[in-house]
Amino acid sequence: MVILLAVLVLGGVVWLVRSRDVPGRRAHADTAWAPTRPFEGRTITGAEIAGGKIVVSGLTKHYQNVKAVDDLSFAVEPGRVTGFMGPNGAGKTTTLRMLLGLVTPTAGTATIGGIRYADLDQPARRVGGVLEASAAHKGRTARDHLRIICRATGVPLARADEVLEMVGLAAAGNRKFGGYSLGMRQRLGIAAALIGDPQVLILDEPTNGLDPQGIRWMRDLLKALAAGGRTVLVSSHLLSEMELLADDLIIVAAGRLAAQGSVASVAGSISRGSRTLVRTPDVAKLTAALDSEAVVTPAGTGEVYITGADAAAIGDAALRAGVAIHQLVTQGPDLEDAFLELTRGKAAIR
Ligand SMILES: Nc1ncnc2c1ncn2[C@@H]1O[C@H](COP(=O)(O)OP(=O)(O)OP(=O)(O)O)[C@@H](O)[C@H]1O
Ligand SMILES: [Mg+2]
Repeated sequence: MVILLAVLVLGGVVWLVRSRDVPGRRAHADTAWAPTRPFEGRTITGAEIAGGKIVVSGLTKHYQNVKAVDDLSFAVEPGRVTGFMGPNGAGKTTTLRMLLGLVTPTAGTATIGGIRYADLDQPARRVGGVLEASAAHKGRTARDHLRIICRATGVPLARADEVLEMVGLAAAGNRKFGGYSLGMRQRLGIAAALIGDPQVLILDEPTNGLDPQGIRWMRDLLKALAAGGRTVLVSSHLLSEMELLADDLIIVAAGRLAAQGSVASVAGSISRGSRTLVRTPDVAKLTAALDSEAVVTPAGTGEVYITGADAAAIGDAALRAGVAIHQLVTQGPDLEDAFLELTRGKAAIR
């Protein structure tokens, strides 16, 4: 009995130590859809960071009558999340496919650390690409699918479990791919891209099909990857998501560059400056109390937009005039306005 007890205790200790040893493994994989553990990748070295810069120069792809990408040039910096945006048919997917060596450019170059994807040594360890929700054999489990990629990439098979855990699919790893939902396929595609622990990640519309937890998770993952020195280039239509996720933006329209820069600079480049939304029961009295530079425009019932006076000036004027203020909200430049303006007239499907 004592021996049996000793064996059980020893077994428990060994199990505990082992479960701590395995990177990425948690005591319980009960949060299949919303992993809370932050991404713990290896530390990216200074030399690698320099090798993660993406440069697109004069990139062009013509299909019969369509100039899918037309003399496009931009740079994507390591350590930042760069949003790649544009209307439908603007040439985003074609550009990303050229970056990943899947489409041959008509002219121009697309390089990663100065080297074309096709010429990279061990490309899967340098660049992870997710161009569409993962495709795999319907009858194969997600874990087996990833193990096959591990073998092809030359990394230990245990990496399959690590990436399953990272993307929140640990509990579904032994299920067949045929039964996976769109969001699960999207996660599996990201898992596959992460297998080689690459310096550069290129993702085409990765939030398609993800639920709100999934979108939050994706945002946290991509931000953590960039914070660790990786280069993250991600295309999306979701302006509000890009405002939360991206540091920099590249906007394309009709195959050409429309804008490039930080989110704030792109949003501020075209659209109006700051304005203040004011809700008050006495618009007329407040308007009379404001300085002459203030411009008041109606925003809705009992609501106005005020420019030319900041929130403090408006609040002070209201106090002096004895006018009640029910809401006072300063609104910065609007990315949606800027996007629509920058792509105006070029959004037609070609
Ligand atoms: N293989 C192809 N053959 C012919 N035309 C193509 C091909 N691939 C893309 N195109 C055309 O090139 C243009 C750009 O397409 P692309 O898929 O790059 O746009 P996108 O910006 O990714 O659009 P979306 O936002 O809808 O995903 C479109 O007019 C498209 O029809
Ligand atoms: Mg596309």
